[in-house]
Amino acid sequence: ANTFRDCMATTFASQELPIIETIILTSSSSKYPQVLQSFQQNPRWLNSSSSTKPVAIVTPLHQSHIQAAILCTNKLGMHLRVRSGGHDYEGLSYLSTYTPPSPFVMIDLNQLRSIHINLAHETAWVQAGATLGELYYMISKASGVHGYPAGICPSVGVGGHISAGGFGTMLRKFGTAADHVVDAYLIDVNANILDRKSMGEDLFWAIRGGSATSFGIILAWKIKLVRVPPLVTGFNIQRTLEEGATMLINKWQHVAHKLHQDLFIRVVAQNHGGGELGLEAKDCIEMSWIQSTLYFAGYNKWDPAQVLLNRITTYKSSFKAKSDFVMDPIPEIGLQGIWKMLVREDALAMVIMDPYGGRMNEISEYETPFPHRKGNLYNIQYLVKWDDNSIEASNRHVNWMRMLYSYMTPYVSTSPRAAYANYRDLDLGRNQKHHIPNTSYLEASVWGFKYFKGNFKRLAQIKTRVDPNNFFRNEQSIPTLN
Ligand code: FDA
Repeated sequence: ANTFRDCMATTFASQELPIIETIILTSSSSKYPQVLQSFQQNPRWLNSSSSTKPVAIVTPLHQSHIQAAILCTNKLGMHLRVRSGGHDYEGLSYLSTYTPPSPFVMIDLNQLRSIHINLAHETAWVQAGATLGELYYMISKASGVHGYPAGICPSVGVGGHISAGGFGTMLRKFGTAADHVVDAYLIDVNANILDRKSMGEDLFWAIRGGSATSFGIILAWKIKLVRVPPLVTGFNIQRTLEEGATMLINKWQHVAHKLHQDLFIRVVAQNHGGGELGLEAKDCIEMSWIQSTLYFAGYNKWDPAQVLLNRITTYKSSFKAKSDFVMDPIPEIGLQGIWKMLVREDALAMVIMDPYGGRMNEISEYETPFPHRKGNLYNIQYLVKWDDNSIEASNRHVNWMRMLYSYMTPYVSTSPRAAYANYRDLDLGRNQKHHIPNTSYLEASVWGFKYFKGNFKRLAQIKTRVDPNNFFRNEQSIPTLN
């Protein structure tokens, strides 16, 4: 850590050194534990000995601080991890599970989060450290008839989210968040700042859904806003099994992907309470688009939109998630088996089903690295959350999740069994041999084809060209071809 600090100091003029001192935190700094934990969304690893923490955290105030950190870590043989919103499901933005441990520095982009809306061009420049909530809020301040089609949880960071696709309630109407990126600033392995023109179309393609963290550090995205009506309609209704939930979900599977693309009907099946369909006019609530972002995030539509600016989630519980894509309706008997699995779990467990179709059918699976397009009826996210941070509890809940995933095998996509990269799952495989020359394309193909299907090889080709020594790496980063 001290050599890293010394290297950083030599990169800047003496009048800047006091700033450099404040932006580097080593494990002996009093602020280190608080900064490390503040934005980490999943406390599952608090008591775990299987992961290592950063030797230093850098909280840059300026892009030059990131450039210096890249040059210094590279020179010292360390690697880098970058955190925007800290929502990585397996904690890869702030922890490493490499064995033997490989020292790394973490860049926390929390202080680089400005947002500039250009309504005349219907675009916005968003720095990577901003959250979706901050972005939605700023759009709503500028216009009542513009929005951005990204995820539902406001504290998610745009840095990680857009890098792997990103979707929410406007998926069927507009596609993914990455589909609406028109330019970006990326810092590469040589610490050069590249825009779309200077990085070239291949690399620009790769960072829009192909795990940007494998190619560099995103400083900012330029996004195209979408037009939304002044009023939209939302509803949230609950049905139990006794009220015929199975039959309704079965019907939903056959129609949800075919409905008009203005309609997005998500199903959340859970063991504590339940959600389903059987809609009446009285269930529908009219609201502005920004109110709908509050409503679907669990707030009341009348809550002040400023709540979207809360970066820190006060209540956090450990969780494990997995994902699947469904291409043919699951028979009723199969659905009933899911409910049986849900009641066997004592912690809060959910099966979240998001319909595809609509605009997603019109975009080719090679257009961006996010390949899950035509042919998918819906995406499933399996989620289990618990509060007891003991290793025993963690193992029990994770094992239950693995059993549910195994149960689902006959009902979901095959060859590959596709998965969504933003719902990261290290059970799918990980890069064990992470040091050049030992990275293994073959080893990474096990998880790579699940996330990126036919785009995986192109991602590896681009990686080989732009980062041949695999500086930007983690347990599921794109490998070089070898
Ligand atoms: P984090 O900072 O942990 O980064 C995630 C990954 O991206 C890491 O590998 C990190 O190194 C890399 N990265 C981060 N910033 C980078 C940068 N500037 N340049 C290069 N690489 C960078 N998804 C979805 O599609 N729809 C949804 O509605 C939701 N909802 C949701 C709710 C909750 C509570 C959670 C925990 C997660 C979601 N997600 C989601 C998943 C979410 O999209 C996914 O976890 C994102 O990767 C999170 O991005 P962050 O920047 O917050 O995470």
